[in-house]
Amino acid sequence: MKLEIEHLRLAYGDVEVVKDLSIFVKDGDLLVLLGPSGCGKTSTIRAVAGLEEPKSGRIVVGDKVLFDGAIGVNIPPNKRDMSMVFQSYAIWPHMTVGQNVEFPLRMARVRREERAERVDAALQLVGLGGFQKRRSIALSGGQMQRVALARALVVEPSVLLLDEPLSNLDAKLRDELRFELRELQQRLGVTTVYVTHDQDEALALGDELVIMNHGEIIQRGRPDDVYRRPGSAFVARFFGTVNQWQSKVAAVTDEHTIINGVGSLEQFVVAGNYGTVGTNVSVSIRPQHIRLSRPGECDAELLEHAVIGSVVLARLLGTRIRYRINIGAGTTIDVIGGAESGQHFFDVGDPVVVELPGDSLFVHPIAATDVSTSEPSSTSTRSDR
Ligand SMILES: Nc1ncnc2c1ncn2[C@@H]1O[C@H](COP(=O)(O)OP(=O)(O)OP(=O)(O)O)[C@@H](O)[C@H]1O
Ligand SMILES: [Mg+2]
Repeated sequence: MKLEIEHLRLAYGDVEVVKDLSIFVKDGDLLVLLGPSGCGKTSTIRAVAGLEEPKSGRIVVGDKVLFDGAIGVNIPPNKRDMSMVFQSYAIWPHMTVGQNVEFPLRMARVRREERAERVDAALQLVGLGGFQKRRSIALSGGQMQRVALARALVVEPSVLLLDEPLSNLDAKLRDELRFELRELQQRLGVTTVYVTHDQDEALALGDELVIMNHGEIIQRGRPDDVYRRPGSAFVARFFGTVNQWQSKVAAVTDEHTIINGVGSLEQFVVAGNYGTVGTNVSVSIRPQHIRLSRPGECDAELLEHAVIGSVVLARLLGTRIRYRINIGAGTTIDVIGGAESGQHFFDVGDPVVVELPGDSLFVHPIAATDVSTSEPSSTSTRSDR
C-alpha cells in the first residue's frame, strides 16, 4: 500500500527535529532515508509507526488516515498494520526463535493452528526453516536479525519500517543480507521505509532515496541519479566519496565560469554559470573520475585541468587501487584507479600527471548549511570506497 507523509513536524520539548517533511512511497517500493547521525531519521519512522506523536502533519497508508494533526486523528501503533525492525536486535532472549516470531500473532489473537503455519512460513522466508525450537541466545547476529525480520513479516504488514537493521553486522554479512532483504521485499511487494547512514546500502536497496539533514529533506530521487547529480555540496560530500574544496568564482565569460584552482592547479574552467566574481563555491570530484598518467607519456598541456603531483600513498583494494596524491600547496587528492592487468600502477614517490576532467567536477554555491558542516581542510575524502 502507498504511504504518504505530509508536512510532518515532530519536536522533543521545544526542539523540532522533523521540520515540515513530506514523503510519498509508492505501493511496493522501498524508500531509503539517508542522513547523518541525529538528522531525524529514526524520529521520522517512529512517528510513522505511531511511537511518537507529531506536532502536526498527516500520515496516510492506502486510504487510511493514521495521523492528522488538523482533525485530531492518531491511530495507536498496534492498529497501524505496520512492523518495525530496530537497529538492536530486540529479540526476546527467554523465548525460542519460534516463540519470538509467534508473539505478534498471539497479540493479534490469531488461532493456534494458523499461528504455527505462519511462523513456519515466515521463518522459511528468511532462511531459518527448522529453527523454531532453537533458543534465541544461541544465534549469530545475522540469524537474530533474520528472526527480527521474520517477526516483522509474520503479521503481513502493509508497511515495513526498518531502522538500520544491518548496522550491527560485519561487512560481509551485511552485504549478503542486504541483497537477501531486497529480494524478499520485492518478492513480497511490501512497501518499505529503510533507514540507514550507509551510502552503499542506499545505492543497493532503494527504489527511491531521500537525503535528510537537520530534520529536513535535502534531496530526493533515484539513488543513482542523486549519486550522479548531487544537488549541493552537502550531498556530494555525504553521498559517495568525494574530494571537495572551497573556492571562489574568479571570472565569468558568456558560457564558462573560471574558478580558483587547487594545489598547483591555477584554475578550473567549467561550463555554465555559477555566480558572479567572488561567489563562494565548493568544487567536488569523485576519486574514480580522476585520471592519472606518467609524465612524458602524455602532453599535460593538452589535458583539461592537469597538474603534476606525486604519489604519497598507494593501496590495493582488491580490484582497485586507491592513491593519495600530493598536488602542491599542501593539498592532497584521493584517486581510485583500476588494478586490472595492463593498467598503470604507480608507486609511492612516483611523479604523476593528474587530470580532473571538467565534466566530472561538481560545482555548488556554498549555502549557509554547508559552511557550518564542511571541514576546514582542503580535502574531505570520506572513506575507502
Ligand atoms: N526521546 C528523545 N528526547 C529528546 N531528544 C531526542 C529523543 N530522541 C531523539 N532525540 C533527538 O532528536 C534528534 C534526531 O534524533 P534521531 O534519533 O531521529 O536521529 P537519527 O537520524 O536516527 O540519528 P542516528 O543516525 O544517530 O540514528 C537528535 O538530535 C536526538 O538527539
Ligand atoms: Mg537513528
